[in-house]
Amino acid sequence: MPTSLKILKKKYSNCKQCPELVKNRSSVVFGSKHMNACKVLIIGEAPGKKEDESEIPFVGRSGEILNGFLKEIGLTREDVFITNTILCRPPGNRNPKVLELKNCKTRLNECIKLVNPEVVITLGNFSTQYLLETKEGITKLRGKIYEKEGYKILPMLHPANLLYNGMSEKLIKQFRSDFKKVKKLI
Ligand code: URA
Repeated sequence: MPTSLKILKKKYSNCKQCPELVKNRSSVVFGSKHMNACKVLIIGEAPGKKEDESEIPFVGRSGEILNGFLKEIGLTREDVFITNTILCRPPGNRNPKVLELKNCKTRLNECIKLVNPEVVITLGNFSTQYLLETKEGITKLRGKIYEKEGYKILPMLHPANLLYNGMSEKLIKQFRSDFKKVKKLI
């Protein structure tokens, strides 16, 4: 088990476990730049094009939405650690495959241990189902608080849902109420 996020990043910097992802990626998007343990860990789905180019998670439009909700509860990107269920961009932004999720599992578990969060926000189905070990969909699970090995898990919709749904007021309200719960938990 690596002893710091920096060492963990190095360990996976040239990971070759998923041949299709390795062939298509420009970078391994390990997580936030700052490499500090944080009270809040956010786990998304997979890097997209902009993330692959910049090596930073959530820098595209979903990232802007995420930043906005963090700001509403007085947090910046420096106050949280952000990563994804898998480290590499799936070609054409397809969903991560079961084997890819499995291959990246040890790394994600190591990351959780090193960030040592009080709250883990899982964004969307992939990270939520992985952490809660369930097949239940995110619409049923979101907004509820689950306990696991010393931290709480708070599933939320993926910010991309807001984009697909024309920034629906109803969904914005759901996000606001979920982020307020984070504020209370930390
Ligand atoms: N960007 C990420 O880094 N992860 C996502 O899940 C979506 C966009």
